Amino acid sequence: MTQLEGIETDLWPDEVKLMDVGPRDGLQNEPYMLPTGKKIRLIEALADAGVTRIQATSFVSPKAVPQMADAAEVMAGIKRREDVRYFALVPNERGYDRALASEVNDIALVLSATDTMNRKNLNMSVAESMGVAERLLRRAKDDALAARVDVSVAFVCAYEGAVHPDKVAAQTDALFELGADQVCLCDTTGRADPRHVARLFAMVRRKHGSERLSGHFHDTYGMALANTVAAMQQGIAFFDTAIGGLGGCPYSPGASGNVATEDVVSMLRQMGVASTIDLDRLCDVTDFVKDFSGAIPSSAYYRATRVERKPALHR
Ligand code: COA
Ligand code: ZN
Repeated sequence: MTQLEGIETDLWPDEVKLMDVGPRDGLQNEPYMLPTGKKIRLIEALADAGVTRIQATSFVSPKAVPQMADAAEVMAGIKRREDVRYFALVPNERGYDRALASEVNDIALVLSATDTMNRKNLNMSVAESMGVAERLLRRAKDDALAARVDVSVAFVCAYEGAVHPDKVAAQTDALFELGADQVCLCDTTGRADPRHVARLFAMVRRKHGSERLSGHFHDTYGMALANTVAAMQQGIAFFDTAIGGLGGCPYSPGASGNVATEDVVSMLRQMGVASTIDLDRLCDVTDFVKDFSGAIPSSAYYRATRVERKPALHR
């Protein structure tokens, strides 16, 4: 068995599930406001390309994130497919009530690993957010609603720097104890490295198993794909990705978008790891992203296969 500082690195999954968070994490950080109809079209096109988990929106304060003010309209407008689970991000009780009324399949509660980020993002301490999580996880059980918890800045915080894996592992223990169905460890700033990722996922996987864990990597320093592989080597088989590499975090200055869905799907295909997504149809969705964003998406696969190269590059 290959070892990295005593950590096994060959627990590769046979199949990986992806959740496209472009319609939420992606769009919330774009400078333009995408009309509700186009958000609905984006979500439906992702589903038609074989994406079976979509983070469709967030039920947050419209003052905090104006782009998500139409969350209820988006959820009401999408033609739902039986084989797709539609997630929504929820920061508090009010968001939970709204998500429930919109009949989402899964909620993603959100809190941070550090107090400074939690206050910037949610205007409360981590301890207060854990209290919110306790109440909402209990309600989710009563409502038979699947609930995961996203731990943002689980690796490096824009304000407090590197976060010790022991701290995040203890927080993960507490969240599972409160009844989380899944915990997603998020590199919100895109500043994690594969060694840090392997270390933290090894700790939590040994205790809780890989099935209830997921990873969310931004690509600020171009390390998101490497970090995805490091987590896969720990047996992690659920990742958040964003079509076209859209997005960032409004409260983590300088952070760029999530790892592009196309790049992860193309990597998985080449590695022989199963996924449900049709890469060609996915790139048709990226064409749509290119049209509405007015920019060439950052996805390396899309650029290599669909963007016309300038003559100078052929010399
Ligand atoms: N949905 C809609 N409106 C909400 C809301 C929700 N989930 N939660 C609060 N509000 C409204 C309140 O009704 C209030 O409106 P009013 O000023 O018209 O009375 C206003 O927002 C402020 O409410 P308050 O409870 O004082 O919240 P706050 O100002 O302390 O902000 C959060 C706390 C959590 C609501 C806010 O910081 C937030 O939505 N953050 C999410 C940020 C985000 O999405 N980040 C990216 C994802 S990681
Ligand atoms: Zn994110």
